[in-house]
Amino acid sequence: MTQLRTAGLHHITMVSANAARTLAFYRDVLGVGLVKRTVNFDDPGAYHLYFGDPTGSPGTLLTFFEWPHAPRGRWGIGGVHHLALGTRDEETQLKWKRRIADHGVPVSGPYDRGYFTSIYFTDPDGQILEIATRGPGYAIDEPADALGRAMQQPSSSILVGERDEAAIAARTHPEPVPVITPEMVLEGMHHISAITNDLDRAGEFYEQALGLSLIKKTINRDAPDIPHYFWARYDGSELAPHSALTLFGFPPRGHVAREGVGQTHHIAFRAGSADEQRAWRDHLQSLDIDVTPVLDRTYFTSIYFRAPDGLLLELATDGPGFMVDEPAGSLGRELRLPSWLEPRREEILASLTPLG
Ligand SMILES: [Fe+2]
Ligand SMILES: [Fe+2]
Repeated sequence: MTQLRTAGLHHITMVSANAARTLAFYRDVLGVGLVKRTVNFDDPGAYHLYFGDPTGSPGTLLTFFEWPHAPRGRWGIGGVHHLALGTRDEETQLKWKRRIADHGVPVSGPYDRGYFTSIYFTDPDGQILEIATRGPGYAIDEPADALGRAMQQPSSSILVGERDEAAIAARTHPEPVPVITPEMVLEGMHHISAITNDLDRAGEFYEQALGLSLIKKTINRDAPDIPHYFWARYDGSELAPHSALTLFGFPPRGHVAREGVGQTHHIAFRAGSADEQRAWRDHLQSLDIDVTPVLDRTYFTSIYFRAPDGLLLELATDGPGFMVDEPAGSLGRELRLPSWLEPRREEILASLTPLG
């Protein structure tokens, strides 16, 4: 059998303490539309909000469980450090910096990361977010047809301690940006950066289990003693969009991630079709990975398993998609429930705080 290779990221699921506040930030400040308002199927008293592009395409989906009473999470080994969303270029990035800062949210950068330029901020729960440019891309320091072969040392001028922090902090768009213009619309997940305490073991896992390829071995520009490796769907010449996962290599006994508010709950990769998902399940079991049965999430079906460092992962089908229970033009406006929860609609609505 040819090896299964995921097409890339499907969605990321994070934890919010307040769904209305999360909606106001992602929809109204970042312009990422709500494509589904539903409840956590395993805990129907809690919202599950899905944001994404107008049709909820895999790779653009950001989802949130609302857990008002959960403790605050913390990044660490087995957890996600940050989520990066894509933007066209440095011009649109500076507009985002100005717009977000004008909403009272501190923004750092733009930092030259070599392969792209990045700004950073946090959402209202403390989840670290990045907005990263499309280019210049991963072929800037090694050939496009031989990515990930050798350790790449960045130019010292872009490392912490060498770069001009005051000049970077001062850069922004000169005018307020009250409207998100079409060229500013965020392009879905650029990459997700997580933390491991064993890069070799993690790399073997992501390559064998998910069919991702190592595309870059370098160091963290903000902590040069920490290695930073990148994986993606890569065919030997091009990278698939929305497919990059990066890992920081922490010391073996570094601190472990804690689940909770402001942290990522899990990362989902694309399984393709339902048939392909069954093959994925067999494949994971053949590697002695514990994997759940196929679970019906209405908009896709899912299987769950863990990376060796503890990170919770999912493989979700592309279909049937978000138009299965409401039309494309009005996604996310009303609470949608799966058929088995419809009889409890009144009780569920009474337990949820109304959203804007
Ligand atoms: Fe990043
Ligand atoms: Fe999920």
